[in-house]
Amino acid sequence: MQALPQVASCDIVVFGGTGDLAMRKLLPALYLRDRDGQLTADSRIIAVSRAGLDDAGYRDKTAAELIGFLPEGSYDAAAVDRFLERLHHVTIDVAEPSAWHDLCALVAPAARVRVYYLACAPRLFGPICSGLKANDLVSSACRVVLEKPIGHDIESARQINDEVGSVFAEEQIFRIDHYLGKETVQNLLVLRFANALFEPRWNSRAIDHVQITVSETVGVGGRAGYYDGSGALRDMVQNHLLQLLCLVAMEPPTSLDREAVRDEKLKVLRALRPLTGREVERSTVRGQYTAGLVDGKAVPGYADELDAPSDTETFVALKAEVQNWRWAGVPFYLRTGKRLGHRASEIVVQFRPVPHSVFPDIPDAAIAPNRLVLRLQPDEGVRLHMVTKEPGAGGLRLRQVPLNLSFAETFKERVPEAYERLLLDVVRGNPTLFMRRDEVEAAWAWIEPILDAWRESGSPKRYPAGTNGPTAATSLIERDGRDWHEEEHA
Ligand code: BG6
Repeated sequence: MQALPQVASCDIVVFGGTGDLAMRKLLPALYLRDRDGQLTADSRIIAVSRAGLDDAGYRDKTAAELIGFLPEGSYDAAAVDRFLERLHHVTIDVAEPSAWHDLCALVAPAARVRVYYLACAPRLFGPICSGLKANDLVSSACRVVLEKPIGHDIESARQINDEVGSVFAEEQIFRIDHYLGKETVQNLLVLRFANALFEPRWNSRAIDHVQITVSETVGVGGRAGYYDGSGALRDMVQNHLLQLLCLVAMEPPTSLDREAVRDEKLKVLRALRPLTGREVERSTVRGQYTAGLVDGKAVPGYADELDAPSDTETFVALKAEVQNWRWAGVPFYLRTGKRLGHRASEIVVQFRPVPHSVFPDIPDAAIAPNRLVLRLQPDEGVRLHMVTKEPGAGGLRLRQVPLNLSFAETFKERVPEAYERLLLDVVRGNPTLFMRRDEVEAAWAWIEPILDAWRESGSPKRYPAGTNGPTAATSLIERDGRDWHEEEHA
């Protein structure tokens, strides 16, 4: 394998360093980049938490947990030992001013790249940034990474952005949306802008509608405490699904420059037709799973996991519209949910039918319109459904079949986890794949009236775990004479 370029020497300071995100995603991602030679020998990872561990204790904890979260075949004992040597642990109670001393003593001189990764509750973002500033731990070589959710509505998002913005300049702030680090999501940019084939037809003249689905089989499990105050609209739509919509709908940026891409995404968010009042009832569906069967296993309902009744939605389907010349009249159907029948994330671009059929004996319905499916996970790939002639004599028969680009079959390389790419982009100082303040706030501005309307309109519809969500989600799209794309994971 060709050697990958190293990034600058750095200290990565992870607040919430013993938490679920750090253990499940951040440390495995850093290990993999280290194993592939991208971290310099002197780079360090400093975990901050209230756990009271010393370095040895933290290394032991990581050694025990890492193995469970690494992709199959990527555990290399020598590389793990080397990686563990980079780890340090500092105990800080953020509310305690004197507690910062150990961190001050440990971090390297100000000129070296230092990343503060805030993998903790958003209410701590402001206090942590103030603590960093008060302890003289902020310089122009520092970056701060904010995990979602950035607030729970526009006001709290603004407050967090103000608090963090009073310590760090906007170009030092990296608001992470890990969907932007997924290979297939980046590939969407390549597909659109490195192939002349699609762009001329990427508009309402050729495209009938777009579907974006992120379907999960997992429930909320141990995260019920956080999730119940959030729900699927805040947890998934406000960020991941709207970001995907932006990448599909945006105008071609002049380059992949940090501002060019984000300017174009912002224009899309601002062009979303507001959903308010009665329109929310017509154009959105929210659901909550009850007990059912997922992958043949009995699973409890959401309220049982929470051990309390709740009106929090674990499923959302909605119809959005981008009000501009390119997309006028093209619905974007979005849906996401937990405990559904399949794990599948995909973007489906449904083209319009041919304008006139030249096949006299073939019903128009047999000439299925082209459909482009970008599969984000699992089995990443791109499929373009085309109509072809079935081989054989005795009359013309047409069938739609996919031109299939499977990443696993085409490329030998492992598909990296989103966090691997994004963490190194932070060290490199490249924020193109991160959300800018105005984007986050524009997304909240669109989401908030939906939340307001839901508060007035009763409970979510129940759906049994292991199904495709509430039947109302099917009606939402069928009412418009269209169907959700399901066939590839049937
Ligand atoms: C997170 C959400 O941002 O994304 C989770 O908080 C969700 O609820 C997860 O399960 C999905 O990410 P992925 O990469 O597994 O699709």
